[in-house]
Amino acid sequence: MNQVIEFVQAEVKKEKPEASTLGFGQYFTDHMFRMDYDPEHGWHSPRIVPYEPLTLEPSALVFHYGQAIFEGLKAYRLENGNILLFRPEKNIRRLNESCRRMCIPSIDEELVLEGLQQLIQIEKDWVPSEKGTSLYIRPLIFATEPYLGVRPSKTYTLLIILSPVGAYYGDQLSPIKIYVESEFVRAVEGGVGHVKTSGNYAASLLAQQKAAQLGYNQVLWLDAKEKTYIEEVGSMNIFFKINGEVWTPKLNGSILPGVTRDSVIELLHDWGVPVREERISMKQIRQAYLNGELEEVFGTGTAAVISPVGELNWNNERMLINDCQTGDLSERIYKTITNIQYGKEQDRYGWTMVIE
Ligand code: COI
Repeated sequence: MNQVIEFVQAEVKKEKPEASTLGFGQYFTDHMFRMDYDPEHGWHSPRIVPYEPLTLEPSALVFHYGQAIFEGLKAYRLENGNILLFRPEKNIRRLNESCRRMCIPSIDEELVLEGLQQLIQIEKDWVPSEKGTSLYIRPLIFATEPYLGVRPSKTYTLLIILSPVGAYYGDQLSPIKIYVESEFVRAVEGGVGHVKTSGNYAASLLAQQKAAQLGYNQVLWLDAKEKTYIEEVGSMNIFFKINGEVWTPKLNGSILPGVTRDSVIELLHDWGVPVREERISMKQIRQAYLNGELEEVFGTGTAAVISPVGELNWNNERMLINDCQTGDLSERIYKTITNIQYGKEQDRYGWTMVIE
């Protein structure tokens, strides 16, 4: 890393929203990190600039062929006023994985992490301190070249924008309802399901809309070939506690390798809870349910944190999990992860990074 990050201060600062009105992703801070790519200069001109609308040509490739990727991570306010990031290097590494799959020139991870740290430092007053709140960090890269042929763009922009947020699903630990989707699919082996490209989310909207109309919060995706094996939920990875063991779908090339997923597996190993990363069918889950062995279900994600699941609907059969109550293990994981993120518990794993 040998590039200097320039800073252009916003002339007008926005009023900060009340913590009770935050919700998810509605407010944006005063500044953003920006860097651009062209073949002559590579990734160049890293800078922190006012958050403002962009100018792009209508022919910019991103609008036509969707060459766009993103990440999601958070900054947390500690009781002593300090700010922590949670495993930011993992998200930046995954951004580079997404670059590779989507034919976007790779980024200097150290430079982007430095830009992110400087941005948070400048925007530190935007990190909320109320319980359950944080500053959501959204890095994104998109194709900017004005051109209509189908090929990788020659130019790109990378941005990091920030948004103070509350819980993703409203009340953090109240169990959500999930609709198991048997018609539409999210990703196929050999496709792009394992990276964070915007089109994955666009393709999920119709099923999400259907689930919402039926009264469900999220969709659980099955594999595209046989519509049998469990993949992931709309914005989370998924875990099942069956007879004292924790099962989660193994990473198979079409599932997103979540940072929270990875952290939960490490915690469980550490606690001596058996973890099975396997191919899991919906039939197995139904059988465990019928046997009275399906003890808990929960999702994991940056935005969602740990989200208990109270109901699964598969082919119109409703499975009510743990009487729609948050299970003990889900709660223990939630508490441990959030205690580490908010600096209330010692981080024995080296996951947190203090913003100086
Ligand atoms: C995240 O958890 O950060 C995500 O990217 C999920 C999102 C699409 C809200």
